[in-house]
Amino acid sequence: MTGVVTVTLNAAVDQTLDVPGFTAGAVNRALSETRTAGGKGINVAAFLSGGPAPVTAIGFLGADNTAVFETLFRDRRIADRCLRVPGSSRTNVKVVDREGGSVTDINLPGPRIPDTAWRALLDGLDELGALNGVFVLAGSVPAGLTDSAYAEIIPVLRRHGAFVTLDASGAPLRHAMAAKPDMIKPNAHELSELLGRPLGGRDDVTAAARELAAQGVALVVVSLGADGAVFVERGRALHAQPPRVEVASTVGAGDAMVAGVLAARLAGGDLEDCARRGTAYAAGTLSLLGPELPPPPRIAELMAGVRIEAIE
Ligand SMILES: Nc1ncnc2c1ncn2[C@@H]1O[C@H](COP(=O)(O)OP(=O)(O)OP(=O)(O)O)[C@@H](O)[C@H]1O
Ligand SMILES: [Mg+2]
Repeated sequence: MTGVVTVTLNAAVDQTLDVPGFTAGAVNRALSETRTAGGKGINVAAFLSGGPAPVTAIGFLGADNTAVFETLFRDRRIADRCLRVPGSSRTNVKVVDREGGSVTDINLPGPRIPDTAWRALLDGLDELGALNGVFVLAGSVPAGLTDSAYAEIIPVLRRHGAFVTLDASGAPLRHAMAAKPDMIKPNAHELSELLGRPLGGRDDVTAAARELAAQGVALVVVSLGADGAVFVERGRALHAQPPRVEVASTVGAGDAMVAGVLAARLAGGDLEDCARRGTAYAAGTLSLLGPELPPPPRIAELMAGVRIEAIE
């Protein structure tokens, strides 16, 4: 089974503070604090770990706060090829006020990536490209790199014949489209921004996805939150509607979907298998906090509950 490599240029520590009655401008007391490793590529690595394919994480970590990442990599048996750069990975603080029912986000800046680290990353990817068949490039681009970062990475992997998945937004996504990733998974907002036009309902989204597929992206997945997702490949289009689930947190639902689609593909699945497993992974993570999937019997139950419909 070919290995999977996830690339996280902008890793994050997700810090959640439990502060009942949080008030700005006052002294607040936190009842608890949790810190988990985040960043989209790292989430995808966590969702795919424990599966049949070996998983490697590469990208940048600030050298001053690597502990949560190293714990995750060790616990999930993810090979750690992340480059350490001076400073701290960004911390995204979530202040949760259960009494007032509010969540306040405070996002800290991350490290600036030195040019030497960028070149070392490209060398590392070239090396991993010779050994692994599937790559996931996911998340935002940190300070010090340009909007062409993904557009420059894709040809390095392409030379090795790797299957490249991209989950990005804004200018980095736009630039990378010229390098033709094999799979993209924008949400409706990211797709509308990429095409520079508003998108209405499912038919509009499907037409837009077909346009991108015609430009040479083999598998286009557009996620629509609670309305499911549209999957387009070689002229076929499917819509997958998730079963009703309890939502604890929608953070990482898109990353779980990417992982599920790739897990199906790695097992030789067709478009419907990808839609079913991708949607089940996404629905499965909604009821849990952090990049976790429910146990396999529950995933099987969720897969059976996904409604797939062909779109003409
Ligand atoms: N409230 C919800 N109820 C049921 N399923 C959901 C809900 N939100 C998301 N999903 C499932 O998760 C998938 C991905 O969600 P979404 O479209 O929100 O991704 P995203 O915007 O890329 O999220 P992120 O990048 O923050 O992880 C959806 O296609 C759907 O299957
Ligand atoms: Mg997303």
